[in-house]
Amino acid sequence: MPHPYVLLSAAVSLDGYLDDTGPERLLLSSPADFDRVDEVRASVDAVLVGAGTIRADNPRLLVYSPERRAARVAAGLAEYPLKVAVSASGELDPRARFWHTGGEKVLYTTDEGARRAGVAADVVPLGAVLDWGLLLEHLYDVRGVRRLMVEGGGTVHTQLLQQQLVDEVQLVLAPLFVGDPEAPRLFGPGAYQGGRLRLVETRAIEDVVLMRYEPTAPGTADRVVPADRHWLRRACELAAQCPPSRTAFSVGAVVVAADGTELARGYSREAGDPVVHAEEAALAKVDPADPRLAGATVYSSLEPCARRASRPRPCARLILDAGVRRVVTAWREPDTFVEGADGAGVLAAGGAEVVVVPEYEGSAKEPNRHLPG
Ligand SMILES: NC(=O)c1ccc[n+]([C@@H]2O[C@H](COP(=O)([O-])OP(=O)(O)OC[C@H]3O[C@@H](n4cnc5c(N)ncnc54)[C@H](OP(=O)(O)O)[C@@H]3O)[C@@H](O)[C@H]2O)c1
Ligand SMILES: [Zn+2]
Repeated sequence: MPHPYVLLSAAVSLDGYLDDTGPERLLLSSPADFDRVDEVRASVDAVLVGAGTIRADNPRLLVYSPERRAARVAAGLAEYPLKVAVSASGELDPRARFWHTGGEKVLYTTDEGARRAGVAADVVPLGAVLDWGLLLEHLYDVRGVRRLMVEGGGTVHTQLLQQQLVDEVQLVLAPLFVGDPEAPRLFGPGAYQGGRLRLVETRAIEDVVLMRYEPTAPGTADRVVPADRHWLRRACELAAQCPPSRTAFSVGAVVVAADGTELARGYSREAGDPVVHAEEAALAKVDPADPRLAGATVYSSLEPCARRASRPRPCARLILDAGVRRVVTAWREPDTFVEGADGAGVLAAGGAEVVVVPEYEGSAKEPNRHLPG
């Protein structure tokens, strides 16, 4: 089911706290960074916070710049992004500023919380407990949200990250210490999937530093996570680098370990080999004894081949023989060169999960436009 693009945004002290324990909200960002946050808010369809942040900070969560609001309206958007609150208990102050400023508001809560919450918002109960996947689907389908900015607090950030629902983290590091173990931390304990995030940008903004990260760890079994989309996009970009051919597909492939480490990448006809396939080229760069292969995912713009004339083993077999048990692809192989090719069937019969993410089919096909059928 489709989800919005989820962007986590937070400011944190050097010792990892989101706030202090005083009655006022601790100002971590610099003025220029508050303006950057305003710009990000103006660029999204919705802004989400947990009930803890509403209770602690009484925030408004508005786009403050009149120019940015005017630009939204000129672009046919609502003046303010939708404001989204999340609470299990429904214990929310109906007088909080959140409910009385900006544009539309929605509260996602439990059945119990919906009975208790008397707030000026569209109250959506999601059952006995709140499921983040369901919430994101609802935002996408019912509210048309394509880009969601999550502005805390730590409880919400931690769950979204641990459940692999995050596309991007925007973290601002502020040059001060809180030093109070009772203060709220940015990320709590628990199981985080994968190893290192990918650093995509750093920017000094007055005395704070913005760091943008993307998670890299693949999903599990047939569960597609934002990092899977990232890697599949990379595979499609590699496909575009293939030397063109009239008699074979242009395909890109990336092999990624469970912790998000890229093990290898390859593309069709790479390095002057006129017949090499993308998955074959990529796997040839990994030591067959590498223990990470067993937990790895192969991303391939096109479904791995089941039969081929140019080599004894087709790519589906090479993948199984390498020990890989998860394959993510954008495009099922058409009958252009082989009738009834069923690489996915070969992989499944060999015990591998095959996930097709059709939203990238267009990019996978693009470098193959000149081929028949
Ligand atoms: N520095 C920053 O960038 C920044 C940004 C935002 C907030 N903050 C700080 O963060 C602190 C608040 O953080 P926090 O962790 O206490 O609160 P929070 O994450 O804002 O909210 C936690 C609350 O959200 C609801 N919630 C979270 N997950 C849920 C789930 N799966 N199902 C149902 N409800 C769920 C619950 O509300 P109920 O209790 O109502 O059930 C929970 O108590 C404040 O001190 C604030 O200043 C800092
Ligand atoms: Zn192949």
